Amino acid sequence: MEIAGSVALVTGANRGLGREFVEQLRERGAKKVYAAARDTSTITTPGVVPVALDVLDPESVERAARQAGDVTLLVNNAGIATGQNLIRGDLAQVRREMETHFFGTLTVTRAFADVLGGNGGGAIVNVLSVLSWFSWDGATSYSAAKAAQWSLTAGTRVELAGQGTQVLGVHFGSAATDMTSDYDGPKLTPSEVIGAALDGLADGAVEVLVDEWSRTTKAGLAQDPAEFYAAAVRPIQRRTAG
Ligand SMILES: NC(=O)c1ccc[n+]([C@@H]2O[C@H](COP(=O)([O-])OP(=O)(O)OC[C@H]3O[C@@H](n4cnc5c(N)ncnc54)[C@H](OP(=O)(O)O)[C@@H]3O)[C@@H](O)[C@H]2O)c1
Repeated sequence: MEIAGSVALVTGANRGLGREFVEQLRERGAKKVYAAARDTSTITTPGVVPVALDVLDPESVERAARQAGDVTLLVNNAGIATGQNLIRGDLAQVRREMETHFFGTLTVTRAFADVLGGNGGGAIVNVLSVLSWFSWDGATSYSAAKAAQWSLTAGTRVELAGQGTQVLGVHFGSAATDMTSDYDGPKLTPSEVIGAALDGLADGAVEVLVDEWSRTTKAGLAQDPAEFYAAAVRPIQRRTAG
């Protein structure tokens, strides 16, 4: 994917990692960046094209796809973390998390698939997590939604290979944004996360593991889950809880 000269659309572009995507895409020479947000008045980055888009509102997504028919790079970044567990958490919030990460990403991807195909293939970046690969007690609902979005990323890659669309999944532990304001563990800067994601995109990668945490966690998937949770997950939860 040639970022210079590309036309990008980033969801959740008004703050956090989405805003950082917009800024770095512009720095790397993207010709046009559509900054998509639920409330376009919250987009303050200069030089972008604001687009109203709520990933849970299919009409707004269709409207955005008609407005942004020149897109060659779609960044599915919008997300929520409601801090729910699956069994005893608020089921409405559990559903909203799955709706946002899985069905929201799917709705946007379906709307833009033909746009990307018509513009030569292009690329899709899905912002995933280390929690696509393990359940965090206190947010197991988020982990389930990110796991579903990971599988969606693979499905999208398989289905759109024929039209030449590069589909990149980006995994990392924790980055300093509003989403992690209650988390006390170490955090990457948004600049580190997005820099690694865009380097991978430019290199033609289909997966970027930004940090050591995501690399060791992915390697841990080959282990017996009981051993993996005992060795790699519980100590981190205990440390950050304390
Ligand atoms: N921060 C981390 O440590 C971390 C780690 C791994 C993965 N991630 C993933 O990174 C992505 C960005 O998260 P962040 O850390 O930048 O969080 P953030 O600062 O809380 O920003 C979330 C963004 O998503 C938008 N959004 C939420 N629901 C939406 C919807 N229905 N339609 C459109 N936009 C919506 C928000 O818009 P509003 O302003 O309108 O609410 C906001 O722009 C998410 O997919 C998250 O799961 C984050």
